[in-house]
Amino acid sequence: MTMRFDGQVAIVTGAGGGLGREHALALAARGARVVINDLGGARDGSGGSASAAEAVVAEIEAAGGEAIANAASVTDYAAVQAMVDQAMAKWGRIDILVNNAGVLRDKSFAKMEIEDFRFVVDVHLMGAVNCTKAVWEIMRGQNYGRIVMTTSSSGLYGNFGQSNYGAAKMALVGLMQTLSIEGAKNDIRVNCLAPTAHTRMTEDLGAALPLEALSPALVTPGLLYLVSRDAPSRAILAAGAGGFERAYVTLTQGAFITGEDAPEQVAARFDAISDRTGEIVPEMGIAQGMIELTKAKKAHGG
Ligand code: NAI
Repeated sequence: MTMRFDGQVAIVTGAGGGLGREHALALAARGARVVINDLGGARDGSGGSASAAEAVVAEIEAAGGEAIANAASVTDYAAVQAMVDQAMAKWGRIDILVNNAGVLRDKSFAKMEIEDFRFVVDVHLMGAVNCTKAVWEIMRGQNYGRIVMTTSSSGLYGNFGQSNYGAAKMALVGLMQTLSIEGAKNDIRVNCLAPTAHTRMTEDLGAALPLEALSPALVTPGLLYLVSRDAPSRAILAAGAGGFERAYVTLTQGAFITGEDAPEQVAARFDAISDRTGEIVPEMGIAQGMIELTKAKKAHGG
């Protein structure tokens, strides 16, 4: 069956270009009414203009869809709240939030100013927190919501020169893990998307593939699934160039070690602790403690 979003309202942050624009165009083409949010600044977050968002609204309207432009910075909670009020006043509900807005200020940690660290965390992490907080009660009241956090391979696995960006992106995974648990009883599903695409953000990287092969449009199908009625929750979906993979935060079976020489034993048995045979994906944080207690009980004959 075709995936449709008729009657639904979506907010896509940073939708004036790149991935956000593709997500917004696709949602609108499949029936959603979309708030096109974009500050319209440079890649490093400087400057700003409403024209980026307005151009995407014009594209959607030209194709027969419905959209409104919004130039709030996701870092400004009052402006984000006003954006949500604007959508509610016009359409009366918010079904989908795509936290996509982002900036880069790459430097090795040795050379990075604290201000550049703080700024990148503020846009990616607090930007997503602000937008999510502003729609959370609405989604709870509707007993329906779909939220995506845009994470990154740099957060999941690290990347030279991106300590600020990587820390912010992995923080979004932590945010998603807890919100998916808290949102479950109101059918609010929260997921992460880890994209790879040629956009202005990645234009310096020098692609190994022709640029069309890295089109943002090849990521958007993954986003659409994550915000659809049948979406999973708590998934980390990687997507790029037509490839789709899933990332997990796992826990190994490990070992039980106590006693005087425990530090030496941890060192000696680090390979066994690291062995991935039988590793699990805990349902929630408390699972780690339960596994540890079970080992202790066993060791004490319980
Ligand atoms: P982009 O630079 O084309 O898009 C980011 C958009 O966010 C821009 O239009 C920008 O104006 C907007 N923005 C920045 N700060 C904002 C703020 N404070 N408030 C509202 N809007 C703001 O880059 P791209 O690649 O489309 O990035 C989209 C998301 O995907 C970002 O979160 C990025 O970190 C993430 N990502 C992209 C990857 C890629 O390969 N392109 C890889 C991994 C993650």
